[in-house]
Amino acid sequence: MTISLRISATHTRRPGRTVGGPSSGRARRRVIAELVPDIPPIVDVGCDHGHVTASLGAVGTERLPGRLPRRRDIQLVVADGLSCFRKVGVAVITGIGAWQIARILARGPRPALAVVHAPDRPGWLRLWCASNGWRIDAEALAPEAGRFAEVTRIVPGLEPHRGLLLEFGPLLLEDPLLAAHAGQLHGHWARILEATRGRAPHKWALARRWMEFLEPMMPTTGDQSIRGLKLPTNDGTEEKRK
Ligand SMILES: C[S@@+](CC[C@H](N)C(=O)[O-])C[C@H]1O[C@@H](n2cnc3c(N)ncnc32)[C@H](O)[C@@H]1O
Repeated sequence: MTISLRISATHTRRPGRTVGGPSSGRARRRVIAELVPDIPPIVDVGCDHGHVTASLGAVGTERLPGRLPRRRDIQLVVADGLSCFRKVGVAVITGIGAWQIARILARGPRPALAVVHAPDRPGWLRLWCASNGWRIDAEALAPEAGRFAEVTRIVPGLEPHRGLLLEFGPLLLEDPLLAAHAGQLHGHWARILEATRGRAPHKWALARRWMEFLEPMMPTTGDQSIRGLKLPTNDGTEEKRK
C-alpha cells in the first residue's frame, strides 16, 4: 500500500520530546498527528475536545450528543465507534481503553489503517491486534503525566513479532525515549515483584521476566550497575546477574 505521510519516516527522531512531560496531552497529540497519513476519510473516534480532529481535518465522533465539542470548525457525528461510516481511510482511536478499541475495530468497518492508543493496557491491545489480522506499522512514545503514552499505527497484515517483545511494542525499540520508558516500566514491575514475593508466584515470575526483558534497554545498559545487579529470588535470597 502506498501512503503519503504528513511527515517523513524519520518521525521517531523528535528532538523536542523530553522525558517526564506535562499532562496536557499536547505531546501525545503531536505524535498522533505525525503517525496519521493522508488517507481520507479520517475519522477521530471519541474526539472529546476536538483538538486532534481539527489538526487532521478529520471527522470527529462521540457516542453521546452531549459529549460533542461545542465548535463549528470541524465536522462532527454522533456514532458508536465507526459504525455509521461505510468506508474509513484512517481511524484514530486514542485515549480510549484497550478493550473498547478492540470492540470498535472488530465491529468495523475495517479502516485501511488505524492509529491507536490505549492508556490502560497497550500491551494487551497489541496482542489483540496481532491475533485479529493487524500488523504494527509504526509506533512512538509521548511523555504524558509522568509516564509515556504508547501510540501505535496498525495496518491489515500478519504481525511477525510474538511474546514480550510484541506486548512491549517491537517498533518502540527505535524510539529516542526508549531508555526512559523502559526505566519507568522497570520501576513498575520492581514494585510488583516486591509486593508479590512469597505470595503470588505466577505474578512474581512475570514481574521478574519483564524486569529481565527491560534491563538491556535501560539507561545504564553495559554499566556495572546493571550487570552486577542482584535480583531477589522468590524465597527472598539474592541471585547475582550474569
Ligand atoms: C479520554 S477521551 C480521549 C479524547 C481523545 N481521543 C484523545 O486521545 O485525547 C475518550 C473519549 O472517547 C469517547 N468514546 C468512548 N467510547 C466511544 C465509542 N465507542 N464511540 C465514540 N466515542 C467513544 C468518550 O466519550 C470520550 O470523549
